[in-house]
Amino acid sequence: MTTPDTNASLYERGLRRIPGGVNSPVRAFRSVGGTPYFVARGEGARVWDVEGNEFIDYVQSYGASILGHAHPKVVEAVRDAAGRGTTYGAPTPGEVRLAEEICSRVPGIEQVRLTSSGTEAAMSAVRLARGATGRSVIVKFEGNYHGHSDALLAAAGSGVAEGDMAAATAPDSAGVTVGAIADTVVLPYNVVPTLSADVGLVCVEPVAANMGLVPPTTEFLAGLRAECDRVGALLLFDEVITGFRLGVGGATEWSGVQPDVWCFGKVIGGGLPVGCFGGSAEVMAHLAPLGAVYQAGTLSGNPLATAAGMAVLSELDAGAYDQLTANATVLAEGLRSAADAARVPAVVPQVGPLVGLFFGDSAPTDFSSARASVLLGHYPAFFHGMLDRGIALAPGPYEVMFPSLAHGPAELSRTVDAAHEAMADLAAGA
Ligand SMILES: Cc1ncc(COP(=O)(O)O)c(C=O)c1O
Repeated sequence: MTTPDTNASLYERGLRRIPGGVNSPVRAFRSVGGTPYFVARGEGARVWDVEGNEFIDYVQSYGASILGHAHPKVVEAVRDAAGRGTTYGAPTPGEVRLAEEICSRVPGIEQVRLTSSGTEAAMSAVRLARGATGRSVIVKFEGNYHGHSDALLAAAGSGVAEGDMAAATAPDSAGVTVGAIADTVVLPYNVVPTLSADVGLVCVEPVAANMGLVPPTTEFLAGLRAECDRVGALLLFDEVITGFRLGVGGATEWSGVQPDVWCFGKVIGGGLPVGCFGGSAEVMAHLAPLGAVYQAGTLSGNPLATAAGMAVLSELDAGAYDQLTANATVLAEGLRSAADAARVPAVVPQVGPLVGLFFGDSAPTDFSSARASVLLGHYPAFFHGMLDRGIALAPGPYEVMFPSLAHGPAELSRTVDAAHEAMADLAAGA
């Protein structure tokens, strides 16, 4: 008889064969403490771990699963695609359909190239912008995360920010050379910079969602657009989180500001590995095989990912976004009422379907104010208070909550009840 797996036994085995026991650092619970739960299966708003514990899940693969887990249409699309072969190394109809669908939804985008992750999309977009403008310098903002390519690992958010954040002029990671970020200028979020004429690209999360949820001020994105135009730099919206989540046309439609280059991921792959970057036909013509900027991928435009992505997008009309926003509003209001009732100072920002949580009295507007909230040190206790009550939030204080279309009234009300108890425990120092 074999002993059944437990979270602890799998973690122990994982630690022996996988660095830190995980394939992405934030999953290791380092900043909240404890043993990660190992997911056996998910359905809708819920996941179950290998011990049979049930959680209402607000991680949702960090935003990849907008319909909830194992949505029947996605499962059917993937099964159907897999039956016809998983990858060919030749173009497929699904790639063309997904590219057409993306371009039809986002105002201003004419062409896209699919990749296998958001990291690859952002890395490739930087190379494209440098190739297209002939300029080396890129600007990024403190606390914005654009994946883990070398040039973008400077003052990055998400799991990177949980470590000892390096100074803005040093790489965030060992193994990234000073040379690799020598042309990366890091600036504070929500301040429109005066750009020099050697800047080729300004990268921004149009709604920052990797330092908690920090919306842009009304002037910020329009100011970036005007500055880029003034010096002839390209503007990149990294919509890996906001794309196809904030609304049909993502943050571009939401803000009314149009960038030159976009990155997407997560939602457009329906939970399969995917990313994409895009822009005008003129900018994208710099890419091989048409132009001199090389970029490629064995699994790019993978038929399972494009099938899942199309299945997801076909469910996402204006009504679906109204529902997502309504779900997020119930969650945000519930969290606010829980904090108020327990007299725990906290702010709960919401942008459409995205919800954040900061302890403290004021809503952060940039990385240093977000970090000040995290340094109050309340998140780990709140996280565990929720997890113990069957509510799974991300195991890191710089992440946001991803209520999905599957989070109905029952799940939301259970979540709010748990938050009341967890906030009360926090106030009592339990
Ligand atoms: C805004 C943003 N850009 C890029 C990435 C990197 O995407 P991936 O993890 O698919 O490489 C992420 C991941 O969370 C992200 O949030």
